[in-house]
Amino acid sequence: LLITVIMSILAYLFASISSAVLICQMLNLPDPREAGSENPGATNVLRLSNKPTAAMVLFFDVLKGTLPVWSGYFLGLEPVYLGVIAVSACLGHMYPVFFDFKGGKAVATAFGVLLPIGYDLAGLLILTWFVVMKQTRYSSLAAIVTVALAPLYTYLLKPIYVYPVLMISILIIFRHKDNISRLLKGTEPKVEKSQHDDD
Ligand code: G3P
Repeated sequence: LLITVIMSILAYLFASISSAVLICQMLNLPDPREAGSENPGATNVLRLSNKPTAAMVLFFDVLKGTLPVWSGYFLGLEPVYLGVIAVSACLGHMYPVFFDFKGGKAVATAFGVLLPIGYDLAGLLILTWFVVMKQTRYSSLAAIVTVALAPLYTYLLKPIYVYPVLMISILIIFRHKDNISRLLKGTEPKVEKSQHDDD
């Protein structure tokens, strides 16, 4: 239990490092918390810059989830404890101690914590996200539909992890409440096919 507590605190602290804010600072881009959708995540960084920069944010945000859960797995922790570490990482990204507790929506970090569960689950999640994204061009809707289905996929593939996944899904959908009201009003911005689509 002590290992789980320590690992959860480390996971929370590690995920509190906002890669979107730091990468934008390093590249002299606008602060993603103050521009665009005002969300420090890969989607908003794409709005403010380009695909390679957004991909970098995505990579580090996924890593923030995968690294602590993988470490716990290799330390031989039981699934229930891995679930606690996974939730802690997502909370770190959403409510970061280093950034006034104003973080992102943890879509990428949640994908990161789910990655070690298995490639079948990860594949289904990616497929769902891409189908909704391609059909609608709404990043938020793709995330909402994917996280809404994640507990069902987990139940079918690795039921032992269904409770932490359910909890993370609820948190992520809650973090999208502004996106949901914009989607309902028809004012949510779509992800444009960029001019540099060959980036
Ligand atoms: O991954 C975050 C995405 O679902 C929504 O981001 O910037 O459009 O609010 P944003």
